[in-house]
Amino acid sequence: MKLSKRLSQIEALIGHDYTHIWDTCCDHGFLGTHLIEQQRAAHVHLVDIVPELISPLDDKLKALFSNAHGSKWQTHCLDVSKLPLQQYEGKHLVIIAGIGGDLMIQCLKKLLTNHPTAEIDFILCPIRQLYSLRQQLIAFDMRLKQEVLLKENNQYYEILYVSSQKGSHPKEPPLSCINPVGREIWQAENEEQTKIVEEYREITLQHYKRMLRGTNNPALNEIIQAYQATNVCK
Ligand SMILES: C[S@@+](CC[C@H](N)C(=O)[O-])C[C@H]1O[C@@H](n2cnc3c(N)ncnc32)[C@H](O)[C@@H]1O
Repeated sequence: MKLSKRLSQIEALIGHDYTHIWDTCCDHGFLGTHLIEQQRAAHVHLVDIVPELISPLDDKLKALFSNAHGSKWQTHCLDVSKLPLQQYEGKHLVIIAGIGGDLMIQCLKKLLTNHPTAEIDFILCPIRQLYSLRQQLIAFDMRLKQEVLLKENNQYYEILYVSSQKGSHPKEPPLSCINPVGREIWQAENEEQTKIVEEYREITLQHYKRMLRGTNNPALNEIIQAYQATNVCK
């Protein structure tokens, strides 16, 4: 099954040492199904809150994958904030993509409160509210593994690969602090990406300037200055 550009990019970020990968808010389960096919972890969990999505997805996966398949899989009809991570031993990656940033913040708050000491990696790709999400991740004292900006169907997406783990493991690249407006996402390796980065910066700035005109909230000045200070570099 061919994934969209955004889901392919999420897949490309995934490290190789997870026991459990949770494709949450999975909808029709395209990403999770692909991860089972590719045997990207010993266990792949597909989670959505809507029973009418999970039941046919479960039937589809039963038809596609026999018990002898390399990755074990499981579907869960669950709110992402209630993932039962403690019931499963090993290293966890939780992917949350395709929901609004504000909802993602609420879900993360509950999930991290339920698992205060667990070392969990997340790949997050919200629709909008990136600044608020980044603020919240900083408040959670999370660390950045990687961040990517992409454009698909005329929409811009930031993908944040973050961890609640504080120190780096010896064989892994060092983790860094999360920047309120991002750092790696403003770097481009070719002309196409430079254009995407410049467009995204402009659209984001215009958004906050419009908000400032509408509300006169002085806190927005700080956000605007932070985005203005980003350097688009090749
Ligand atoms: C637009 S789809 C995203 C599909 C896929 N993750 C992607 O990024 O393309 C959003 C899905 O999130 C699910 N959802 C919304 N809130 C949720 C929650 N609190 N817990 C679990 N699933 C949720 C919805 O039912 C819907 O299927």
